[in-house]
Amino acid sequence: MQRNQAIARKAGEFLIGDDLRVARLGFGAMRITGDGIWGEPSDRAEAVRVLRRAVELGINFIDTADSYGPGVSEEIIAEALHPYPAGLVIATKAGYMRPGPNQWLENGKAEHLRSACEGSLRRLRLDQIDLYQLHRIDPKVPAEDQLGTLKDLQSQGKIKHIGLSEVTVRQIQHARTIVPIVSVQNRYSVTDRGSEDVLEYCEKEKMGFIPWFPLAAGRVSGSESPISRIAARWKVTPSQAALAWLLARSPVILPIPGTSRVEHLEENVAAAELKIDANKRQELDRMARAS
Ligand SMILES: NC(=O)c1ccc[n+]([C@@H]2O[C@H](COP(=O)([O-])OP(=O)(O)OC[C@H]3O[C@@H](n4cnc5c(N)ncnc54)[C@H](OP(=O)(O)O)[C@@H]3O)[C@@H](O)[C@H]2O)c1
Repeated sequence: MQRNQAIARKAGEFLIGDDLRVARLGFGAMRITGDGIWGEPSDRAEAVRVLRRAVELGINFIDTADSYGPGVSEEIIAEALHPYPAGLVIATKAGYMRPGPNQWLENGKAEHLRSACEGSLRRLRLDQIDLYQLHRIDPKVPAEDQLGTLKDLQSQGKIKHIGLSEVTVRQIQHARTIVPIVSVQNRYSVTDRGSEDVLEYCEKEKMGFIPWFPLAAGRVSGSESPISRIAARWKVTPSQAALAWLLARSPVILPIPGTSRVEHLEENVAAAELKIDANKRQELDRMARAS
């Protein structure tokens, strides 16, 4: 693959919140941490190379969270990319505490969200976070309070836009009565369609829909993948077929496949060049559903 080819741009663009223009194929930075999304990655230098190569390939939308590491993913992003190139959009999140590897504890209290925001600004070396997502609505705290805290952070200029994660249509509608919401991040892929109603809502409202787990953490990628036969027929890899399906599924979808390896990054970004028509999409739908 040639260097400096902005392949990700071939996926087309999306305007987040009317002013952040991003290539629709982004990068998820959760996997540049240690096992259990905890601590240092096994190969930090490769993690830095992955991020730099992502930008070289035209990616300008990177998703992370204070809880990835915790702190590690944001620190590596800044180490690899600061001073940031013009137009790079870093979306981060708050709302989880991390007592240990693979442990995630919701915390939507105002003091936690405020200090999480300060921590992300410091680690990312930013004056303002472009897109700040509430990682989960904490059921122990009134949603109004959690969104009210984000609204305050927005009016203080610390965050530009607000997004939600793992929410229902009703929760999005309620949130929008409190503060403008520009994006939703829910689990979704060709083999995992539980958030179809949320996607349709985002499409109608022209909000970004960011599907996490787009490769089902690699299960869609390997030779055991339910879509491996179809991908072989199309002469692409299963990951590429799964990502091209997402890009074709809706113009508001912004996939953020994650990887810790340049080789996988390059394979995934090449999906931006694939065009799958309605017939191929339906074929993939049938195969994924039958799996
Ligand atoms: N909002 C939320 O609650 C939430 C939850 C989870 C994740 N996220 C976000 O969504 C992003 C993506 O989710 P995810 O990382 O869980 O799932 P994913 O992107 O579906 O899968 C990532 C996994 O697949 C492997 N992989 C990637 N490309 C591959 C390829 N071409 N061939 C074989 N294996 C491949 C990676 O391993 P290698 O490192 O070996 O490539 C990694 O373990 C995260 O980075 C994070 O930003 C959000």
